[in-house]
Amino acid sequence: MTQTIMPRTSWQQDYARKVVSAEKAVLAIKSGDTVYIQSHAAAPEPIIDAMVNRSDQLKDVSLMHIMTLGKAAYAREEFAKSFKLHALFIGSNTRHAVNDGRADYIPIFLSEIPKLFTSNHVPLDVCLIQVSPPDAHGFCSYGVSVDCTIAARKAARIVIAEVNKQMPRTLGRSFVHVSRLDYIVETDRPLQELAPAVPTSIDEAIGRNVSSLVEDEATIQLGIGAIPNAVLQYLTDKRDLGVHSEMLSDGIVDLIELGVVTNDAKTILPGKIAVTFVLGTKRLYDFVDNNPLVEFQTVDFINDPFIISQNHKMTAINSALEIDLSGQVCADSIGNYLYSGVGGQVDFIRGASRAKEGKAIIALPSTAKNGAISRIVATLGPGSGVVTTRADVHYIVTEYGIAQLFGKTLAQRMRALIDIAHPDFRESLEKQYFKNHPKE
Ligand code: COA
Repeated sequence: MTQTIMPRTSWQQDYARKVVSAEKAVLAIKSGDTVYIQSHAAAPEPIIDAMVNRSDQLKDVSLMHIMTLGKAAYAREEFAKSFKLHALFIGSNTRHAVNDGRADYIPIFLSEIPKLFTSNHVPLDVCLIQVSPPDAHGFCSYGVSVDCTIAARKAARIVIAEVNKQMPRTLGRSFVHVSRLDYIVETDRPLQELAPAVPTSIDEAIGRNVSSLVEDEATIQLGIGAIPNAVLQYLTDKRDLGVHSEMLSDGIVDLIELGVVTNDAKTILPGKIAVTFVLGTKRLYDFVDNNPLVEFQTVDFINDPFIISQNHKMTAINSALEIDLSGQVCADSIGNYLYSGVGGQVDFIRGASRAKEGKAIIALPSTAKNGAISRIVATLGPGSGVVTTRADVHYIVTEYGIAQLFGKTLAQRMRALIDIAHPDFRESLEKQYFKNHPKE
């Protein structure tokens, strides 16, 4: 008996069958569900808006994401009964909700977030993503945000994707086939942008100091915040830098155009910029579009300290809010006020410290609030969260210089840190130290 072979549905037919309005797609979200939202400029705003518009039909929906750009309207007080955010990293759009108690914060290493989902520690019901249109083979690109997206997409029962004509097609481990998507919402809209802060004269002095630590042929990582981006403009006289970084901001494009970043001396993914997300303006988004120079990988690979540590002269540059005289680095809160997240700081500090000729750098202005507060303090304030421990910390940089703390005693650290504190606070810091350590 001859068997009839059924022709396979083409991906184009599959795609066409899945296209719905945002309003229809979000009917798949039910009360009590846990929903993951893709991060940064890849947050699928039209789908999020449609979900929020259904708030009167939804109760106790848990939302999870790292930083996102956009309104994050679900975090508003009026929607508190419908949505509760469990922030894996706090951004300016969710900070008020976390500190008002409507949302909560999960301190976690960025490298370990995928494990939350793949291990089913946090079972996900729905994943909301934004991707590029499919290529000739039916693959969409996760675009500007690969980070935790693959793990969340695989773990979720239902995947709702915004297919945005303007999402860059980024290369690397950044593709999802149309067959893996359940609902498709088509759009054609510009991505949200985050313009780099204009560096102050203090940022510039810090940039110069950090630059003195960056050697030719180093592989660099730049963290989030004003300082890491300001550092980039002081690296123009370096040779053959490589990049292995969880994120890229606009400043990196200049270094590439100047021929400073060649990636020739890199040991992991040589010849390529290795990254997991980009956060900046259209200039940066256009740069990564279809660009084989930029290899997007998942965050559990890019931020794995063991992978990072294999890079040649790995140099990690991150920032902080406060540091005590023993070297404990607070980077996610200002006292009890929750500000950002652990992010990839510890992943990169540990990776860079272990790397051959590696350097782990924390750079911060010596003061906050127009010079009224010292960021170098005798003891951390109540509620201040330690992100990088005093055993992990190596270089601290301010506009007044560089303190190298690795292998230093507490008294030596106190001296080194007071030397780079703002002169207005040096005497009082010393007095407080000796009050706390009367025997020395
Ligand atoms: N006391 C009181 N206020 C303080 C303060 C302190 N010790 N330190 C900073 N502030 C205030 C600043 O004055 C500023 O206020 P403003 O917005 O009114 O000007 C605000 O807090 C933010 O400080 P700033 O230093 O400008 O932040 P930033 O945008 O440069 O980011 C971190 C710095 C530390 C928050 C950021 O690097 C971060 O989130 N790090 C943790 C995660 C990480 O490093 N990841 C690595 C890669 S993702």
